[in-house]
Amino acid sequence: MTPALSVQDLTVRYGAFTAVRGVSFEVPHGSVLGLVGESGSGKSTVARAIVGLAPAQGAIRLGDADLTGRRGRAARRRVQLVFQDPRGSLDPRRSVGDSIAEGLRGTGRRSARVAELLELVSLDPSLAVVRPHQLSGGQRQRVAIARALAADPEVLIADEVTASLDVSVQAVVLNLLRRLQRELGLTMVFISHNLAVVRYMSDEIAVMFNGRVVEQGPAGEVISAPEHPYTRSLLAAIPELGAHRLLSEEAVEASVTARPAPPPGCDYRLRCPVGPAVREDRAICRTDDPAAQAGQRLHLAACHFAAERTALAPVNPG
Ligand SMILES: Nc1ncnc2c1ncn2[C@@H]1O[C@H](COP(=O)(O)OP(=O)(O)OP(=O)(O)O)[C@@H](O)[C@H]1O
Ligand SMILES: [Mg+2]
Repeated sequence: MTPALSVQDLTVRYGAFTAVRGVSFEVPHGSVLGLVGESGSGKSTVARAIVGLAPAQGAIRLGDADLTGRRGRAARRRVQLVFQDPRGSLDPRRSVGDSIAEGLRGTGRRSARVAELLELVSLDPSLAVVRPHQLSGGQRQRVAIARALAADPEVLIADEVTASLDVSVQAVVLNLLRRLQRELGLTMVFISHNLAVVRYMSDEIAVMFNGRVVEQGPAGEVISAPEHPYTRSLLAAIPELGAHRLLSEEAVEASVTARPAPPPGCDYRLRCPVGPAVREDRAICRTDDPAAQAGQRLHLAACHFAAERTALAPVNPG
């Protein structure tokens, strides 16, 4: 069956800087793909490329429809993106109800539909008349979700939707999203740098590092038998639900300008706990790109030594 969303060999370049390199994945109807990886790994760029907000090379398809270029404009409306900070995405001058109604496709029954959508995200319909600043962060994020659902999307992309919220509110919003996903059979791309959160939400997980997917597979398998040392490091450092590290804009800026061109060999080798920095015999990591043979490995792992995982340090999935 044709997947709901298919991304093949997606590359995104900003001038000389390549933010996303050769990313491929498919999301079947009604399932959730989790994208996880550290800050700057390219997760949001993938999301933005899908909805036409980043310059994409490669193939992006929604069912049978091409999502790229000018021809993809109409189809791109069937993909809705919910961002990290709803303060930035909700117009402060408009009422909650107007913001949600903006996403509605047809005319007529608008206020009734807005009320239904508010109830769907467990908000009181009377909140339709208030402005976003009168709501809590968690309530605002629910409004953003309701607005995305108003468009009756075929795919919902949730990009760090809980990162700006307090821990207790994060759990509420995550549970809401998971309930909606199940009840409505939503197809989702769920993005977070928190592997615990991604594990909770996803059927499949794709792990990104430095603009590439370095491992992907069924969520349970990637968590219980990770093949790539980077995935193992994420697992070992699994934060409590919501213990987020927010980078300042300055730090992000510095990481872009200071990042050297990728070295030959494996991108991850300088930090790899089982790579040439600690194992002198692993010179291949310095010379050969392990992504080249990823297709031959379980979970498409971009690691020359992926198959040796059992011999490596045990991981504690927390
Ligand atoms: N418009 C742009 N111009 C230049 N570089 C960009 C642009 N957008 C993103 N980048 C760079 O691309 C890289 C990937 O960024 P992206 O926002 O996709 O990462 P991310 O995985 O979503 O990180 P985070 O977890 O912090 O949200 C970063 O180095 C970022 O600075
Ligand atoms: Mg991001």
